[in-house]
Amino acid sequence: MSMNTTVSDGWFKRRMMRLTRGEKRFVNTPANAERIARVAASLLERVTLPPEPRCLEIGCGQGAVTRLLVERYGARVVASDYDPAQVALARERLADLDQVEVRSVDARAMPFDDAQFDGVFSFQVMHHIPGGWRQVVAETARVLKPGGWFVLTDLVVSPRAGRLVRRLLPLLDQLEETALHACLTEHGLRLTHYERGRGMLMGHCAAVARLNR
Ligand SMILES: C[S@@+](CC[C@H](N)C(=O)[O-])C[C@H]1O[C@@H](n2cnc3c(N)ncnc32)[C@H](O)[C@@H]1O
Repeated sequence: MSMNTTVSDGWFKRRMMRLTRGEKRFVNTPANAERIARVAASLLERVTLPPEPRCLEIGCGQGAVTRLLVERYGARVVASDYDPAQVALARERLADLDQVEVRSVDARAMPFDDAQFDGVFSFQVMHHIPGGWRQVVAETARVLKPGGWFVLTDLVVSPRAGRLVRRLLPLLDQLEETALHACLTEHGLRLTHYERGRGMLMGHCAAVARLNR
């Protein structure tokens, strides 16, 4: 059943989900597109996609992962983002690719039927959605076909820092490593690969999970 609900947010959540001007200057550069595509390519080596897979990129930014999916895997991709400015940019940068549909989508409430996609891709998105990343995981599991793949990178709070953040800001629910693993499992997403860079309090992680249904 589709869960295309309307989500109402306060100022803080909206602020967290929209990148600042400085973040956009960094995230939307050609150098960052190249870097993200390199990371995505190495994670995709751990995934077996069918021919012409149907894929969804959430929080696509300028669309670097979408381009890789089309050019290397012959994928048909829905590239989506919450921020209208990022949607407009992705539309412009991906205009040469017929297999891509760029849409404005809040990843917490995806306007897609169940079991539509062979792969869902999320690069550096969920740490922007404190209090909402669990919905993103639930929605991802819902729209994936049985055996479909969830490939993500993100900035996670370490378990130790997570305990501190929970004590100081109990309502924040920032993306935290053990909570992420538990949430993936809860929704039938089995981790087949996980790595996290060094960092006592926070670190970049990369994960590949497969829907066990
Ligand atoms: C750090 S940027 C990463 C962009 C791109 N994935 C990349 O790696 O270059 C985070 C992106 O997530 C998007 N975003 C934030 N909240 C979102 C939500 N609720 N649904 C979909 N996208 C969201 C932002 O607009 C932004 O484009």
